[in-house]
Amino acid sequence: MNFLEKFFKKKKSYSCALLNNHLHFTSRDTLEPCCSANIGPAMVSELSKKNSIKEFISNKKQLIKNLKNGIIPEGCKGCVHLEEYKEATDFRINKITLNHYTQCNCACIYCTQGNRTFEKIKEDENKPVLYDVLKFINELYDNDLIDKEKLYIDFQGGNISCLKNHQEIIQTFLDRGVGTIYIPTNNIVYMPVIENLLKMKKGEVCTALDAGCKETYERIKQVDKFDKSIDNLKKYIAAAGNDSIIVKYIIVNGHNDNIDEFTKFMDKMIEIGIKIIVLDIDYRDIIDGCFTIPNHYYDIVKYAKETCRKHNMDLGIPPYTTKVLEQGFSTK
Ligand SMILES: C[S@@+](CC[C@H](N)C(=O)[O-])C[C@H]1O[C@@H](n2cnc3c(N)ncnc32)[C@H](O)[C@@H]1O
Ligand code: SF4
Ligand code: SF4
Repeated sequence: MNFLEKFFKKKKSYSCALLNNHLHFTSRDTLEPCCSANIGPAMVSELSKKNSIKEFISNKKQLIKNLKNGIIPEGCKGCVHLEEYKEATDFRINKITLNHYTQCNCACIYCTQGNRTFEKIKEDENKPVLYDVLKFINELYDNDLIDKEKLYIDFQGGNISCLKNHQEIIQTFLDRGVGTIYIPTNNIVYMPVIENLLKMKKGEVCTALDAGCKETYERIKQVDKFDKSIDNLKKYIAAAGNDSIIVKYIIVNGHNDNIDEFTKFMDKMIEIGIKIIVLDIDYRDIIDGCFTIPNHYYDIVKYAKETCRKHNMDLGIPPYTTKVLEQGFSTK
């Protein structure tokens, strides 16, 4: 490349679909533009100090422009979602992650929502949420900043059964326009609101069971609720079919990372009629980097792929986990 070519060579442009169209209400009292789970955030805004979401939206627009001009925020460097610039014209919000509460009724040893213990479960019962998400969500609707048809709600947080105003939040979305409401839940409590969402074809449920038997379940989740969770899955399937029910297996090092456990898990899924499986690796192992994927993890992945193919089930592996499995180790 000669000097003139170098001089006129356009600076690389980037974009991120999540930055363009997502919002993430966190339990750290912040609003962030994405929930890439492992990387980021690109920017934060302390919500309990705010009455309006407008300033956040305009700061986000500036970041989108910066990416187009080749300026990558520190938090986005190395993120799998960062891509070469793609033209976008619609910047309305089409995904909201609700992660603003941590209250839960079990204590998974891997939970990324803080150190979970039995004491914490009790303490959670009366813990208030940090801020009112509905105030901000209504403002987005009022200002036509939501893509009502596409809008995908991702209830992360603690467990939805412990979020006191979950019915009000869900009803607001149903009244004001929503595509799909995704509810990850430990399924310890049967919730008629979930059954209704499934029947309306507006809901998706995901349960991380992580085990094929009571004993392993109890070691990982620290509550004796394997049978209850399975019963509730069966009840949802009986009421609304199995199209939108996902069961996840998070491989937790030294606890369920063996093919016997995974085989028992898959047998159970086939028995109760689950059609969608998600396989993941404990984030604690991959967030900090320097984790070499043990060979036996690949046996589980192989078995998952073969069994799902044989039984006509869908298998999902999240993007970051796919990358880590492909390269054989995690990087920071
Ligand atoms: C914090 S939970 C909240 C929702 C609900 N209580 C549940 O567990 O399904 C959100 C999601 O993060 C996943 N998760 C939490 N900690 C994780 C970890 N260390 N590795 C992988 N996934 C994790 C859970 O399985 C769940 O799907
Ligand atoms: S590039 Fe990654 S960290 Fe940055 S906004 Fe997109 S998803 Fe978030
Ligand atoms: S059920 Fe969800 S929120 Fe509760 S401890 Fe497990 S991962 Fe954390």
